[in-house]
Amino acid sequence: MDRIQQAEEALKKAEEKMNTRYRLGYHIMPRANWINDPNGLIHYKGEYHVFYQHHPYDENWAQMHWGHVKSKDLIHWEHLPVALAPGDSFDESGCFSGSAVEYNGKLALIYTGHNVIDQEEDIFYQNQNIAVSQDGIVFEKLQENPVIAKPPEDSSRHFRDPKVWKHRNSWYMAVGNSTKENVGRVILYRSPNLRDWEYKGVLAQSDGDLGYMWECPDFFELGGKHVLLISPQGIEADGDLYKNLHQTGYLIGEYNDETNEFVYGDFTELDYGHDFYAVQTLLDDKGRRIAIGWMDMWESEMPTKADGWCGALTLPRELTLRDDHKILMNPVEETALLRKSKHMDCANQLISGNYLAKTAEELLEIQVVYDLTDCSAETVGLKILGLEEEETAIKYSITDQKLTLDCSKMGKSRDSVRNAPLEANGKLTLRIFIDRSSIEVFANHGETTMTSRIYPKKDRLGIELFSEKGNVMVDELTYWALKDIWKKDESLKKNIMHR
Ligand code: FRU
Repeated sequence: MDRIQQAEEALKKAEEKMNTRYRLGYHIMPRANWINDPNGLIHYKGEYHVFYQHHPYDENWAQMHWGHVKSKDLIHWEHLPVALAPGDSFDESGCFSGSAVEYNGKLALIYTGHNVIDQEEDIFYQNQNIAVSQDGIVFEKLQENPVIAKPPEDSSRHFRDPKVWKHRNSWYMAVGNSTKENVGRVILYRSPNLRDWEYKGVLAQSDGDLGYMWECPDFFELGGKHVLLISPQGIEADGDLYKNLHQTGYLIGEYNDETNEFVYGDFTELDYGHDFYAVQTLLDDKGRRIAIGWMDMWESEMPTKADGWCGALTLPRELTLRDDHKILMNPVEETALLRKSKHMDCANQLISGNYLAKTAEELLEIQVVYDLTDCSAETVGLKILGLEEEETAIKYSITDQKLTLDCSKMGKSRDSVRNAPLEANGKLTLRIFIDRSSIEVFANHGETTMTSRIYPKKDRLGIELFSEKGNVMVDELTYWALKDIWKKDESLKKNIMHR
């Protein structure tokens, strides 16, 4: 049987068996079984396409396929058939991460072929390949594959995650790589036709502190600067920074495309939550740079494996550059399409202690604005409360200028607290998206973001605002119940097991 069809049948069977207790309401997730990185993000012929690393046969990572969804508005997604299945001579063991471009009106995917030689000794080779589609659904791998058979001489065997873009009349490809001495870096290729690639050299490389391998590069212009997004493996934790197993962040600076010289500053993390990795971006026809990340982390607790699925992608987020060259990340404006009923509470009230806005809604957008100008409290924040003392807490310490996300009472048993720097003077605005098993916090208009998976066991009780050691003025508390884009009918509920 055709490999794609076989994957489709496996998914259909797995879908029937799934426990839906933690299924998300408005995020991209697999129909069933495993997903990781977002791949091939593109705005193509008026529709947004997102592919993702996918194992359709199991809830664990294994031979990587590419899953596929598309949407007209970045909100209402539709699953399409699996786009790529591994097993050809150049992608024997997996179709790893990569990107998409439009080429002569066709949709071209550029991806890494993963080929294992010796599983036990972890010996493999990786190469770059292309698959093309006329209709944006069915993809054909090129006869010429691999288009880049091996990395440069001074490279380790890690050679993956091609991100391709067009500049003037040439195609460029940034690839995640490391040196023979295991120093993480991104290397660059150029091509006139997507098939023949010339090696141009190293775009950026770790100074020794930025890890042993850089995965999932993305390189683009933003607000007059050049930004290199990377997902480095092996950065040591440093206080509140770099707390996840692997990080995702950016280098920002000036790029000279004649000399291939990229002069950049310090590495900055893009999100400070537990579950954000392998982010990729697209440029849409409105000129927006939109980023989507994998909303999980390697080797973390993944309770939904027991339910027959695992992994999700973040909300699409628009990236903009502030005057001081900090990247701001905010949910795309289309997220307003998710809003159902709107509730306003507690506006212009001084709170001292706690204030509870009761709601049993599972899918929520919350906006709260605190006025910190004459505030006597040391800490202010908000808790998403469940019954029996379940809670996810977001706290801002005015004294330490730190935002904290605490998921210890919401199903994350290990290493469940994260802190992030945030200089909030005057107002503190928290915009929070809660799905059944995720939280995304956007503080002060995208200055600091924190994304984590959460695993509630009880029903929701409400949203509690709080102040510690003093009082604070609440300018606004607005929340919206959000739509479940995946729910076609109520019969899905039949699979909800007793928690
Ligand atoms: C990042 C990554 C990529 C690789 C893919 C494999 O999470 O390790 O480097 O292409 O996942 O699934």
